[in-house]
Amino acid sequence: MNYSLKQAKHGVIETICGCMYSGKTEELLRQLKRCEYAKQNYQVFKPKIDSRYSDTEVSTHNLQKVPSVVIESPEEIYQHLKHDTQVVGIDEAQFFTPEIVEVVSKLANHGRRVLVAGLDTDWQGLPFGPMPHLLAISDIIRKQYAVCMVCGDSATKTQRLVDNSDDILVGSFNMYEARCRDHFDPELSLRKSKAPQQELNI
Ligand code: ADP
Ligand code: TMP
Ligand code: MG
Repeated sequence: MNYSLKQAKHGVIETICGCMYSGKTEELLRQLKRCEYAKQNYQVFKPKIDSRYSDTEVSTHNLQKVPSVVIESPEEIYQHLKHDTQVVGIDEAQFFTPEIVEVVSKLANHGRRVLVAGLDTDWQGLPFGPMPHLLAISDIIRKQYAVCMVCGDSATKTQRLVDNSDDILVGSFNMYEARCRDHFDPELSLRKSKAPQQELNI
């Protein structure tokens, strides 16, 4: 491949994780803003599947946005990487295939600061895609917390509100809300689909 990864000596992997609405993307954008003050060159990547608020930008739920390079597979990062990029931001990392782990490692091993944001757990409360591996190899981990929509406590879980048991289901306020452990009910969406049958049995 004709890309150059060689740069400064010490790279770093920083993973920002948490449930939906916890401020992962906000934190990513905050870090990138700091890079601007530090006059560091950065590039941001996101998976194509995330077309929620914008096709081409990384966006927070309150519509703060930053332009991004849209990719389908992790290796595409190499093709788009500029030789003078010092900081690489990646949002929605949970959607990538396991190859993201090697790409992120390589970038850091060749001197880049890699900021990775993604959901640590899915709608069932289980580890999501490559996130557990990314967390394991990270130098720095930031866990973000949302507010539980039932009781107002700190939320670490994402409650799916619709009847769907796919691992990947892109969406926001009409489909998901943040919940604390007490109010998280992973069976809720499954029960919703069974509800008419249960009613007949009563
Ligand atoms: P993430 O990428 O983690 O899903 P974002 O950074 O896109 O989150 O958005 C965080 C913002 O979402 C908060 O600043 C707040 O304005 C909004 N928000 C909506 N619902 C909640 C909630 N339940 N708890 C905290 N923030 C929420
Ligand atoms: P967010 O963390 O920036 O809010 O984005 C999370 C995205 O992940 C959002 O499009 C919904 C999606 N998602 C799934 O595909 N499966 C899941 O199990 C959960 C919880 C979220
Ligand atoms: Mg986000």
